[in-house]
Amino acid sequence: MTQFGSGVTVPVTADDSGRSWGFTASAFCSVALDPPLVLVCPARSAESYNAFVNSRRFAIHILGSDQSDVAMRFAEKRTDKFEEGRWRQAADGLPALDGALARVSCVTHAVHDGGDHAILIGRVVHAEVDEAAGAPLLYFRRRFLDPVAS
Ligand SMILES: Cc1cc2nc3c(=O)[nH]c(=O)nc-3n(C[C@H](O)[C@H](O)[C@H](O)COP(=O)(O)O)c2cc1C
Repeated sequence: MTQFGSGVTVPVTADDSGRSWGFTASAFCSVALDPPLVLVCPARSAESYNAFVNSRRFAIHILGSDQSDVAMRFAEKRTDKFEEGRWRQAADGLPALDGALARVSCVTHAVHDGGDHAILIGRVVHAEVDEAAGAPLLYFRRRFLDPVAS
């Protein structure tokens, strides 16, 4: 799987108490156009797992090549993930990261068994694209790549 180059995302959600959760994910893809469905796979071992599989809404940020710091921060187990960076609250009530290539806002469509991960399928209800943002952040052979610099 290290030979499969992918984009990098940060899915976010909130639990019933209103606490924000997020993690770095490369297991993300488009599933269907009608209805518009995407999937992301949180690990059962993730601190954010329960918040995601129990959520009614979540949103996914597609990171730009200058956002490897965000990817690294959200790949760590820490409670202050949202305290640094350009975060604001979006209309869906969840955190939104300025500077991402795109933000896809979803309602939970299905949660499937994916072994030690869940397969979380979201129906896209809103999507924002930052046309001014540049190249995507890529992950290949366990390293982040800037497709413009490399
Ligand atoms: C590039 C990259 C891609 C990742 N993709 C996933 C993924 O698709 N699913 C997943 O559960 N964890 C993935 N991880 C690991 C999580 O980001 C990491 O375990 C994180 O600590 C989980 O956060 P949490 O435990 O605070 O919820 C990835 C990490 C990196 C660096």
